[in-house]
Amino acid sequence: MNGNFLWGSATAAYQCEGGWKEGGKGLSNWDVFCHSEKNNVNPVTGDIACDHYHRYEEDIRMMAEGGQNAYRFSIAWTRILPEGTGEKNQEGIDFYNRLIDTCLKYKIEPLVTLYHYDLPQPLYEAGGWENRKIVDQYLDYAEICFKEFGDRVKYWITINEPNYETLCCYGFGNYPPNVQNLERRWRAMYHMMLASARASAAFRERKLPGMIGLVSDSYPIVAGKDTPEGLRAAHMADLFFNLSVNEVCVKGAYPRDFIEQLQADGYDISYMFKEDEAVFEKGTVDYLGINAYNRYIAEPPQGPETILDVNNTGDGKKKRFQIGGWFCLGEDPDMEKTPWGMEICPRSIYDLLMELKRLYPDTPVMITENGVGNYDEVTDEGVHDPYRVAYLQGYVDWIGKAIEDGCDVRGYFVWSTMDVYSWINGYKKRYGLVYIDYDSEDLRRIPKDSYYWYKNTIEEKGRTCYG
Ligand code: BG6
Repeated sequence: MNGNFLWGSATAAYQCEGGWKEGGKGLSNWDVFCHSEKNNVNPVTGDIACDHYHRYEEDIRMMAEGGQNAYRFSIAWTRILPEGTGEKNQEGIDFYNRLIDTCLKYKIEPLVTLYHYDLPQPLYEAGGWENRKIVDQYLDYAEICFKEFGDRVKYWITINEPNYETLCCYGFGNYPPNVQNLERRWRAMYHMMLASARASAAFRERKLPGMIGLVSDSYPIVAGKDTPEGLRAAHMADLFFNLSVNEVCVKGAYPRDFIEQLQADGYDISYMFKEDEAVFEKGTVDYLGINAYNRYIAEPPQGPETILDVNNTGDGKKKRFQIGGWFCLGEDPDMEKTPWGMEICPRSIYDLLMELKRLYPDTPVMITENGVGNYDEVTDEGVHDPYRVAYLQGYVDWIGKAIEDGCDVRGYFVWSTMDVYSWINGYKKRYGLVYIDYDSEDLRRIPKDSYYWYKNTIEEKGRTCYG
């Protein structure tokens, strides 16, 4: 196998670490939210999660035994700066030093996400990403990480999913602060993009070896109808989900029609300062991380109102998604869906990658997440997850085809390394290559069929177009 291509899997701190009050860690907005009465859909917490904080070596060893050569994880801001700003916490730095060194011991390349949803509670209380002050605070935190870990970490990620996170926080309203207000959403997302640009530029100024990118949940968009209205809806969906992030971090500027639409919606955009334009220009990414899960079919909106439903219970019920004045999402009844309503369409990744090649020919892509959530079960012979194997196989094959057709894809990461806390979906929605028996005292790890499938695939594909 050619060793250049990164074959890995991914997690995020709050979803797997546990140890929520250990090692001098401060509280994050997720710690507080999960312990509040607002957490009433699947009322569980990440207090212990997979106990990765203590069991990380076992998890990393299993990755290596499964043929993986890379691990994407996130740093909890609250372990480095318990209050979000101020004094560094050496115990937290030591933990991530151990994690990184263990990766290297097992010949696993670490890919480090600086921010993956968990915000220090004091910063959250001061307005979180809606408050422009956070841009400087995030930069200070990022600089500490570059300084402490930059000698060994070659792949950095500034922010995970500015789009999806803010949609959940301010659109669906199922993540803290649990509001439905898109005007506030765009403001928070703008500050995330600004913070990411500042950190990218700062990373390059340090002349550290390696690359820095942003992880964007990006979606292949299909027009439901081939009419002028249908094509407009597809473009508006593209702006909403993809271009409002990707154009900014890859090309260094907001699309003009995106800004015009915010103005047409009557939103206050006075938080967009003229001098920020130079920051975005200077702070473009070295590579684009893509979290790939599903595609969207865009239709003209059926009315002026915004309707954002979400399925966090896996009850198979159809939900509506419409952004008034922009588009609504349609559905292909013939396509298979998960109990959470996610359409299974692996070939759509090929379309997305070819579109990214067309738009950003000089920017390499990393598939930083790809996976499918389901209710897995342990049997006497292990965990059989044929649906996951089929889904992942489809993606790997179509990504391979895109590489053959000239896309510069540098790596592929399955979400997730092991089962993790699935945010508001709790623990029943499992994505892992490794099953976690949450009822057992030692949180037993059981490799699923997909773990062995991935190991074989890495061996086989490593000899083909990959790498
Ligand atoms: C991505 C996130 O959006 O999707 C992960 O980066 C998340 O943190 C994953 O867990 C799956 O989403 P969910 O909500 O089903 O856990």
